[in-house]
Amino acid sequence: MLATNDYKGGENFDLRDILLKGRKMSFHKKLDFFSDFIKGLTTRKEMQHLRCITSAADRQVDVIDSYSGHVKPMLMFGSNNYMGLANHPYVKEYVSGIINKFGVGIGGPPLLNGYTILHKELEERLAALKGCEDALIFSSGYGANVGLITALLNNNDIVIYDRYSHASFSDGIKMSGVRAVHFPHNDVKELEKYLTRINVDEGRNVFVGVEGVYSMDGDIAPLNRIVPICKLNNAILILDDAHGTGVMGKTGRGTAEHFGLEGKIDISMGTFSKTFAASGGFVAASKPVINYLRFFARSYMFSASAPPTVIASVLAGLDVLENEPELINKLKLNIDYTAQRLTELGFENNSLTPIFPLKVPEGMNIREAAFKFHQRGLFLNSIEYPAVPKSQQRFRISVMATHTKEDIDRMMTAIEEIWDEYKQLNFSEYTLLTSNKTFMN
Ligand SMILES: Cc1ncc(COP(=O)(O)O)c(C=O)c1O
Repeated sequence: MLATNDYKGGENFDLRDILLKGRKMSFHKKLDFFSDFIKGLTTRKEMQHLRCITSAADRQVDVIDSYSGHVKPMLMFGSNNYMGLANHPYVKEYVSGIINKFGVGIGGPPLLNGYTILHKELEERLAALKGCEDALIFSSGYGANVGLITALLNNNDIVIYDRYSHASFSDGIKMSGVRAVHFPHNDVKELEKYLTRINVDEGRNVFVGVEGVYSMDGDIAPLNRIVPICKLNNAILILDDAHGTGVMGKTGRGTAEHFGLEGKIDISMGTFSKTFAASGGFVAASKPVINYLRFFARSYMFSASAPPTVIASVLAGLDVLENEPELINKLKLNIDYTAQRLTELGFENNSLTPIFPLKVPEGMNIREAAFKFHQRGLFLNSIEYPAVPKSQQRFRISVMATHTKEDIDRMMTAIEEIWDEYKQLNFSEYTLLTSNKTFMN
């Protein structure tokens, strides 16, 4: 175990400190150091990760309170289950039927024995959803990004990508060895500058990577400007629409539909872990791109297929999106109501999506605040440094179609109370820093 003085100030550590300090430690010392860090968080009731849920993923879930050991009901505001499909009666019945016919597993990758008629049907429906010729399914969204980038991009190419792109996109970049530059978040002018400056030699391909809906901020990429710029500069656009698929656009086809650009995206990537509340990912593109990926995307070739149960849940989810358009309308009403209530509380927001970043003032201990939400029976995810810069730490509120107005009101009351407690404790700093409610941002 570490001597206590090694751990001094542990409460101020974050995961990046652990990584940096750990580099200079022996293997066992590093593990002890990390165990002590987690123990410290738990003792101070600042550990809200790995909360164990004992019920279906719904607007309300039962959670084992790791501090009391009791199961308590909590309102879920941290799930990507935006449409409530995880526990939708039609989806459950459909999947039950599929279990009886196909069993639960698959036992191999798609190119060998892991490709069923369900996988084929889902690929066709995803291609149609995105207005593309073809699609292929990966066993995770992470694998979809890594697979498509490592297969399609190489060190002779260049990729220009938004600075807020997901870890799976940047990991793909690292693994592929492609030359990469990022542009400031949603700064189309900077993107254009890069594109016009690049000297496109023979054989060098230029790719652009953006997300439809950004997972930490909930804002959207201005595809209406990005798509024409890419076309003009012969750049191939890769759109990660993990959070936009099933949510954005009139019928949930995604962020391209929101802008009236269906079928105009070169390569569309999506996941099953958000709106479809399952797991897995996909890429939709032209037939040649998809054929190529089937044989060169290593996370596709060398990983077992998603089992029929998962594929069936996505097929059923697509049925629900088609047959129950009122779900999208309900989600939009909840988004509008949340935006309105947050604005009333003084939080700057203009979200068109179910993701609301609740930025915490720099002096606020986000882990302590997370416990206060937990105590009030509200399940929110805290996003800490180094996942975001220190000044940008936040709670990420995810609103679902299944939430009621009363659920949203309950969350707002909690936010108001927790921020008020902070304000009272830090009154002098607060008055120095700001003269109005903008301290909340
Ligand atoms: C934008 C984005 N892309 C890709 C992924 C990876 O998807 P999955 O969790 O399904 O592997 C995520 C998941 O958080 C995401 O937010």
